Amino acid sequence: SVLEMEVEQINKGNYEHYMQKEIHEQPESLRTTMRGRLIRGGSSKAKTVLLGGLKDHIKSIRRSRRIVFIGCGTSYNAALAARPILEELSGVPVTMEIASDLLDRQGPIYREDTAVFVSQSGETADSLLALEYALENGALCVGITNTVGSAIARNTHCGVHINAGCEIGVASTKAYTSQIVVMAMLALAIGDDTISSRTRRDAIIDGLFDLPNKVREVLKLDQEMKDLAKLLIAEQSLLVFGRGYNYATALEGALKVKEVALMHSEGILAGEMKHGPLALVDENLPIIVIATRDTCFSKQQSVIQQLHARKGRLIVMCSKGYAASVCSGGSCRVIEVPQVEDCLQPVVNIVPLQLLAYHLTVLRGYNVDQPRNLAKSVTTL
Ligand code: G6P
Repeated sequence: SVLEMEVEQINKGNYEHYMQKEIHEQPESLRTTMRGRLIRGGSSKAKTVLLGGLKDHIKSIRRSRRIVFIGCGTSYNAALAARPILEELSGVPVTMEIASDLLDRQGPIYREDTAVFVSQSGETADSLLALEYALENGALCVGITNTVGSAIARNTHCGVHINAGCEIGVASTKAYTSQIVVMAMLALAIGDDTISSRTRRDAIIDGLFDLPNKVREVLKLDQEMKDLAKLLIAEQSLLVFGRGYNYATALEGALKVKEVALMHSEGILAGEMKHGPLALVDENLPIIVIATRDTCFSKQQSVIQQLHARKGRLIVMCSKGYAASVCSGGSCRVIEVPQVEDCLQPVVNIVPLQLLAYHLTVLRGYNVDQPRNLAKSVTTL
């Protein structure tokens, strides 16, 4: 109806699509996610994290034998992005489960496990069924959702709301970055506050405070990503290479492109390149390589060299000021992003890829907010 259309226009504000609005909203949604939870300064000068919904369970989580992340789609990717920092700060082994695969295998879940359910809607059928299964097996179940009162929020023992605000576009964007931030805060909350970890913890907390500004900065790449989209508009396929903290970025970037732009895209673990994907490389197939500065940087530099030697069509994402060290001779296209604390870099790096997927979709003339065959929340099996 006319009324519905007008309400929709009001909701979208100055944006043409919900996905676009939600991408550009991220500096604010991230701030809301952290509000009241990060504590810096004060009389003790200590920097800490407060997650009210977990406070009675932090000790049990810390003592658990294993943390198992369970989710689907983008929510699974968010957990994958947070896995390294959770392992580092908690010292607890962290494993990953796609909800449907856990159920297919009836995989082992024990009483000594903490099972963390990550879901934007809190209603995904696969994740809910996996929750029932984990409860039956006696695990401590934690929910990380964006929806107060959702089934996952209600049926877990404890949890954290990501407070990203209502997300309408079928492709998840602002929920993804808020989920990563919540799991980084979870890592800080579980991790021991020892003298040896102090510097690292402080750097992450400072990094979290500054993250909305860095995301605002990276959003300025909008026009650049639109230009890149114009270049890629007629491609059949797009590969995205990442590793370490940004393996998840590669999977999530590729998921965005395939979901909304209806273009085949695959996220590839760069360390596996020589075990198969290298065979695909030629002068035609576009490849995005994520090579921002962290402990994997020199390995990514050699991946770039090898792709280069095979005449790969490279688009390299690097830290600001590093264009020359990732792409000598100016033979590839470069996306320069602001550098943040390594474990938070996935939050910054996904943004240009969200923008790319958005523009590709609009240019190709597809429905951005409701891609064919997909639903925002898959509540049936
Ligand atoms: C559907 C949506 C995805 C989402 C996934 C998991 O496939 O289209 O965008 O990532 O479900 O949803 P959840 O609500 O559990 O995060």
